[in-house]
Amino acid sequence: MSFYFQNGFMYCENLRVKEIQEQVPESPFYLYSLRQIQKNYQDYVSALKGLQSIIGYAVKANNNLHILKHLQNMGCGAVLVSGNELRLALVAGFDPRQMIFNGNGKTLPELILAVKHQVMVNIDSEFDLLHIQKAAEISDTPVKVLIRINPDVDPKVHPYVSTGIKNSKFGIQNERLDWFLEKIKQNDRLNLVGIHCHLGSTIETVAVFRDATTLMLDFVQQIQEQGFNLCYLNIGGGLGIDYKKNNPRLPTPVDLVDSIRELLPPELILIIEPGRSIVGNTGILVNRVTGVKSNGNKNFIVIDGSMSELIRPSLYQAYQHIDLIEPVLSNVETFDVVGPVCESADFLGTNRQLPRPPEESGLAIHDAGAYCHTMSSNYNLKMIPAEYLVDGNQLRKIRHRQEFDDYLRQFEI
Ligand code: LLP
Repeated sequence: MSFYFQNGFMYCENLRVKEIQEQVPESPFYLYSLRQIQKNYQDYVSALKGLQSIIGYAVKANNNLHILKHLQNMGCGAVLVSGNELRLALVAGFDPRQMIFNGNGKTLPELILAVKHQVMVNIDSEFDLLHIQKAAEISDTPVKVLIRINPDVDPKVHPYVSTGIKNSKFGIQNERLDWFLEKIKQNDRLNLVGIHCHLGSTIETVAVFRDATTLMLDFVQQIQEQGFNLCYLNIGGGLGIDYKKNNPRLPTPVDLVDSIRELLPPELILIIEPGRSIVGNTGILVNRVTGVKSNGNKNFIVIDGSMSELIRPSLYQAYQHIDLIEPVLSNVETFDVVGPVCESADFLGTNRQLPRPPEESGLAIHDAGAYCHTMSSNYNLKMIPAEYLVDGNQLRKIRHRQEFDDYLRQFEI
């Protein structure tokens, strides 16, 4: 593991996190391990050995340009959900032929950008197909499209991160498949190359991927029978990670790929779209303790980080493990770890067993590499945090903190 403890001190690769905290001016800040990013990506590469495949990293999970460049350098593709993610992926050097543009509300300008760069586009609905068609006409360029099928497989995850059940806002109504195929047949610029699905996120069993793949292969056959030549099967992302730090048996990329390997016809190229399982466990949010208080019933550790920097616990009641980064010699008590934001929902963790930390000591929120920095906000005028990357003994700042002056610059004064 790239984050570990020695003599009560937390380390990231070869560096003591406390020493990093003393050295960097910003607090809280995100800290990532390059080695862990590389390992997680390589685990997918090994898992996919023997298959034709594209690993499309879901940029929304973590869009730091330096992290994107590292992934791109290793041969990764990119899965995008906005025109700006597409622009950033181009800056990071991703090959547009390994990019997929997803989403249920892609705008015409975004689609024109995707078509211009020959990025594959997923069709999500009737209007989306018509917009893609329009973008191809305006650009006078053909576009490779996939149809997003709704497999109606329940991934058994928090409803906010479940995307492939019948009532989800994503994907086409499967009964209307023929309408889509007809439209595509009638338009020379639309080149149907595959189908797509995405079940949801934080998935803890690979059986659902197998169920979905079986169903998707039926669709492939049905579509081929209508004279289309499909080359991609995109099964989305969604593999969970061990947030609770108590389940080493959670499925790995190998488990995922092996659960569907024998189903896959050799001529199909498999696309997978992992986000969390590539970057989730590669980062922490490092905070300082502002103070400790009690209301008679409950104890609170108040830190300088908050739901503005890391919203997952508030938004999804998500559990992220919390540790002090340095040895503290006091009895363990039960605390809620909360931020300074003016909301009762502003907590990073509830009912945590921790020693009573002194003011200014360091406290880390684990598994903060995915959907944490990217979901941070300016609520209560908290500034978007800095990001640092450790590579062995080296520490590098990979994003400046947003400063108050940056914020003010948005206004005409
Ligand atoms: N592909 C599609 C079409 C997606 O919608 C997503 C995530 C992914 C791939 C990547 O899924 P992953 O491998 O990262 O699970 N903010 C939530 C997660 C939202 C995920 C949205 N879609 C969270 O913090 O848990």
